[in-house]
Amino acid sequence: MQETVHVSLGDRSYDVEIGPDLIATAGARIAPLLSRPRVSVLTDETVAGLHLDALRDGLSAAGIEMSSLALPPGETTKRWPQFERAVEWLLAEKVERRDIVVALGGGVIGDLAGFAAAVLRRGVRFVQIPTSLLAQVDSSVGGKTGINAPQGKNLIGAFHQPSLVLADTAILNSLPPRDFLAGYGEVVKYGLLGDAAFFDWLEQNGPALAQGDMAARVQAVTRSVQMKADIVARDETEQGDRALLNLGHTFCHALESATGYGPRLLHGEGVAIGCALAFELSSRLGLCAQEDPSRVRAHLRAMGMKTDLADIEGDLPDADALLDLMAQDKKVIDGQLRFILARGIGDAFVTSDVPRDGVRKLLQDALAAR
Ligand SMILES: NC(=O)c1ccc[n+]([C@@H]2O[C@H](COP(=O)([O-])OP(=O)(O)OC[C@H]3O[C@@H](n4cnc5c(N)ncnc54)[C@H](O)[C@@H]3O)[C@@H](O)[C@H]2O)c1
Ligand SMILES: [Zn+2]
Repeated sequence: MQETVHVSLGDRSYDVEIGPDLIATAGARIAPLLSRPRVSVLTDETVAGLHLDALRDGLSAAGIEMSSLALPPGETTKRWPQFERAVEWLLAEKVERRDIVVALGGGVIGDLAGFAAAVLRRGVRFVQIPTSLLAQVDSSVGGKTGINAPQGKNLIGAFHQPSLVLADTAILNSLPPRDFLAGYGEVVKYGLLGDAAFFDWLEQNGPALAQGDMAARVQAVTRSVQMKADIVARDETEQGDRALLNLGHTFCHALESATGYGPRLLHGEGVAIGCALAFELSSRLGLCAQEDPSRVRAHLRAMGMKTDLADIEGDLPDADALLDLMAQDKKVIDGQLRFILARGIGDAFVTSDVPRDGVRKLLQDALAAR
């Protein structure tokens, strides 16, 4: 039960290996990349407590030594202070140009460690071992790395592709259900943006994979990574097609900003709600069938996920304030709101041609239903 997805980017190409218990053989998998048998691992304290010993064993089985630094878990780690700590630790560890940095953790650790690797000695290679579903299907693939600024999320960073990604689907067993379902929001997004058959499959198999069906997990992660890899290979630095990956994200970023990027709304939860809103908007604009938004919402509901604005606890700003937050999204070009809309399930496209009034009315109605 193991799959490999190749990310084709010329001399920056790499494999994403997907399957249960890969961490036990991490050493043999990483060894071909090494010029000497040691690696430096960046992780967070939660993941370290659960999985660092297994990684140490997996590496030492191939004669590879490791040192590690565990940072505090959570989004606030993705800022200058912990970044500085990580880079200085890597220098103290005497990581050289030909060495490998390993990121063991969710998207926070992957983004921070990737950026540290990008700037350390003007760039060292790194391996992603993503431990959250979100990191396995999204953040560990594609080479976007970085940290947050006081002015906004992910504003400081670099494109730096990993040399290998090991997505161990058994590691997800320790992930809290809420984090698992948040990551599933990104999985659904792939079906919605470009693969109707995958969305059908998720309708059938989503509940089983959330319950722990390993074959279904491997299949869902593999299909998601394939889709991301294809899009990234076509458009590595987001000049065009890569924007499709932002389906649901313009709404999501406004909601995350309104809720303070905290536990009220996880990123993947905002993506799920944002996808439902994007389909509702597409239907109102006559682009897709009226049944499509209902079907999207029905699946999210069946999975026990947040689906509507009503599922977000506490106050939300009014429609105009949400529109202003959407306009602050860094994907805005020349002040034009860019949306990912859909002609149907599995058929999304990028457009700047969206009437502001239509979006305002959509948000007003969604807020009124709370
Ligand atoms: N680079 C990209 O292309 C990209 C894409 C999407 C998201 N992101 C970034 O990813 C981050 C979010 O990632 P995330 O949701 O993985 O957050 P995260 O890294 O904070 O992980 C979520 C929580 O789960 C815990 N955790 C992780 N793996 C676990 C496991 N196996 N068992 C138990 N607990 C575990 C972590 O300690 C953390 O508390 C954001 O900063 C976002 O900006 C980046
Ligand atoms: Zn996302």
